[in-house]
Order: sequence, then C-alpha cells, then structure tokens
Amino acid sequence: MKLAKQAYRSIYEKEDEHWWFLGRRKVLGALLDGLEPGGEWRILDVGCGVGPSTIALAQLFPEAEVIGIDLGAHFIRFARGWAERLGVKNARFYVQHAAQTVFPDESFDVVNESYVLHEMPQPESQKILVEMKRLLRRGGRFSCVDVIYDETEEERQHRVKRSRGPEPFLGEYMKLNLEQHLRGLGFVNINRMNDPSWDCMVITGMKL
Ligand SMILES: C[S@@+](CC[C@H](N)C(=O)[O-])C[C@H]1O[C@@H](n2cnc3c(N)ncnc32)[C@H](O)[C@@H]1O
Repeated sequence: MKLAKQAYRSIYEKEDEHWWFLGRRKVLGALLDGLEPGGEWRILDVGCGVGPSTIALAQLFPEAEVIGIDLGAHFIRFARGWAERLGVKNARFYVQHAAQTVFPDESFDVVNESYVLHEMPQPESQKILVEMKRLLRRGGRFSCVDVIYDETEEERQHRVKRSRGPEPFLGEYMKLNLEQHLRGLGFVNINRMNDPSWDCMVITGMKL
C-alpha cells in the first residue's frame, strides 16, 4: 500500500511538472476560456486518474463545481487527498464508469476527457461519447484532449508502430475518427487542434 501511494504520488508529480502535461492543460484552458464569463458551471472530467486534469480544470475555473470520475478507487482516493493538499475546494471525485454514470441528463455545462479514449476498444469509447453527450446541457461544451489521430491509414499505422509503451488499443482509437464521430452524434462548432510536437489533439464541440 505504501508503495502504491508512492507510485501514485510520482505519477502525479510528473504530470504536475512535466512540460508536456502542462502544455496540454494550457491549451484546454485557452479553448474553454472562450465560454461566456460567469463561471458557475458544472464540469465533468471523465477518466480523471489521480486527478491532474480535474484539478487543473478546478484551478482554471475556481467558480465552477468540477467532478472527476474514474474506475480506479485507488486513483480516486489519491485524487481526493491531492486536491485537499493543494487546497482545491471546488473539485470532487467519485468512482464511476464513464459509459454509465449516475448523473441526470443535461446536468453539466462542460464535459471533458483527457487521454481516456485511446485506452480502450472502440465500442467502449463510443458508449462513453454517448454518455458524455447525454450529460451535457444544450449549449454546453465538450472537450477531448487525446492522442492525435491521423488522416490516412498509412500515417495511423506509422503512429501506432512508433508509439512507446503498452498501448494495445491505439490502432482502434486511430480508426474511430473522433471528429467525424462527434459530428455524427450531433455536436456542432467542432474545432480540432493538433500539436504534433507533443502528440496532443484537442477537439471541442457544442451540444445543440
Ligand atoms: C491515461 S489516464 C488519464 C488520466 C487523466 N485524465 C489525465 O489527463 O492525466 C486514463 C484514465 O481513464 C480511466 N478509465 C478508463 N476507462 C474508464 C471508464 N470506463 N470509466 C472511468 N474511467 C475510466 C483509467 O482508470 C485511467 O485512470
């Protein structure tokens, strides 16, 4: 247990300091910053892990109520402790399955996923996207920060081959074509930004 705690801490610290993680948060903040001022939103961060994306959102939007959910109970416990340690009061964390949450329809103003969808088989990520849409209010903002998917099959295969670490579902994720999929789900105002220098893609959209 002690070892697990240390491991989580080092994951968190890396995510809190490494330029790659800091950079992607900055992009997310800038994109969501375009939302109307006021800020008393409810924001959901699905697949929050040990909490860096949720805590970053809570810090970016101090007036908002930010909820992080993850399947991993250890992650959630760690995220709660870390938020407390940082004095972040507007973030809450729960163990929940992102494809089947307990929240009512249209109960969030922003729904975000950060580096979750590339981790699973395509049917699972499709279910999560449907749930994210269900949870979003009309006019609410969807954001997706994840691995870049490429336009051609050749480029996709190239990225899958050169990906480091165990990423068994990267090939399936590449074929999902997230942008098209979101259009198919009825999202509008879809913006996509790729930053190949840190393999980050941000897609935002709005629910009509
Ligand atoms: C790569 S981590 C990303 C963590 C964090 N969002 C970030 O930006 O660093 C992916 C997380 O998604 C979670 N996850 C995967 N499938 C999930 C599901 N169906 N429901 C909730 N969480 C899930 C995993 O437990 C893991 O913590």
